[in-house]
Amino acid sequence: MNSVAVNLYLVGFMGTGKSTVGRLLAKQMGWQFLDSDHEIERVQGKAVSKIFAEDGEPKFRAMEREFIENGHPLSGCVVSCGGGLVVQPGMLELLRGRGVVICMHAPIETVLQRTMHTHHRPLFEVEDREKRVRELYAQREELYRRTGTLILTDKRPLREIAAHVLRVYRMEAAGFKK
Ligand code: S3P
Repeated sequence: MNSVAVNLYLVGFMGTGKSTVGRLLAKQMGWQFLDSDHEIERVQGKAVSKIFAEDGEPKFRAMEREFIENGHPLSGCVVSCGGGLVVQPGMLELLRGRGVVICMHAPIETVLQRTMHTHHRPLFEVEDREKRVRELYAQREELYRRTGTLILTDKRPLREIAAHVLRVYRMEAAGFKK
């Protein structure tokens, strides 16, 4: 495997910019962009919120694992991973075996601003959304910090963030061993 083409996996909390950054990077690199949520929705033929409501979260988590294990090409892709994908036991190791993992990061206040008025995230469909976002962020923060290089997506131009991710990706891909 040519180390230069190993996949790039973007992980991080909801609202940290994984998909926005990933889409731009894939375009710049001439690579395929995949969003784990969208791929699962395509295969299942229904929205993530409907999967949560009808099948339950554990089934959704199994679909995420299936997508990573068998559902995508193993090179030439920029993959934006749903925020909880890497939280499941064993998933970080799985991702690391398949490519370079980089974590998008934003402070809680920015995440709140970006997620308070969206309607496609089932975990946030609760009465006190702010409390829920803060709790989940606090629960997961340590884990995200351990995933790999953290890149701040707050108050920086998108192109600068993408260039930063690309620099880190190139360094890590050069040392990647399958
Ligand atoms: C989730 C994040 C979402 C989506 C689902 C659950 C999570 O993806 O997978 O709603 O547990 O953090 P985004 O991070 O792309 O919003």
